[in-house]
Amino acid sequence: LFAGDTDFLKGVVAMSGLPPADRLEVCFAGRSNVGKSSLINALTGRKGLARASNTPGRTQEINYFTCGPELFLVDLPGYGFAEAPVAVVEKWQRLLKSYLQGRQTLRRAFVLIDHRHGVKKVDEEIMTLLDQAAVTFQVVLTKEDKVKPKDREKILQQVRKALSTHPAAYPELIVTSSDKGDGIPTLRATIATLE
Ligand code: GTP
Ligand code: MG
Repeated sequence: LFAGDTDFLKGVVAMSGLPPADRLEVCFAGRSNVGKSSLINALTGRKGLARASNTPGRTQEINYFTCGPELFLVDLPGYGFAEAPVAVVEKWQRLLKSYLQGRQTLRRAFVLIDHRHGVKKVDEEIMTLLDQAAVTFQVVLTKEDKVKPKDREKILQQVRKALSTHPAAYPELIVTSSDKGDGIPTLRATIATLE
């Protein structure tokens, strides 16, 4: 699945802009700055593919990447960016909702959680949205390299507890570091099992 060429396809700002639903698709959701774009870069082995920046809220469109002929990787706008204007936030939320509910070929959503911080209120909100849309989601912990080993288990327990209340949650967590490459093969293998 990851053998083919990877490329940026387009940024989408409305449902009418979505590419044809002609292949498997997975999306990456998470708070601004959690590491969505970095994860896509690590997954595809192409550093500059999805823009990764220090400026939260940089990715404001639904960004489509082709990964060979059979897979779309979808980088969703980061949520929970307090400084974005209310109207902008509401527009994203509407688009996100329509996308999650309406995209037939979406097989799994990966909800990225910063391993230092665990599940926050805005993460709960997106998980509830995924429950309602009946989109199976799986948590990917990011920035593992920034957590002290002694703090890891406590956060993992908090995440597991939060997931237990969400019917659409897939229970297995994937712990990653886009910087070090940890967990990236596991995530690739997980995507490869989806049909
Ligand atoms: P938005 O598009 O704004 O929602 O952000 P994003 O979720 O795409 O985050 P992005 O990939 O741009 O990463 C944000 C910052 O975190 C950047 O400075 C990255 O270099 C850093 N970062 C991402 N992943 C990791 C990681 O695994 N380890 C470390 N140490 N830093 C990371
Ligand atoms: Mg991004």
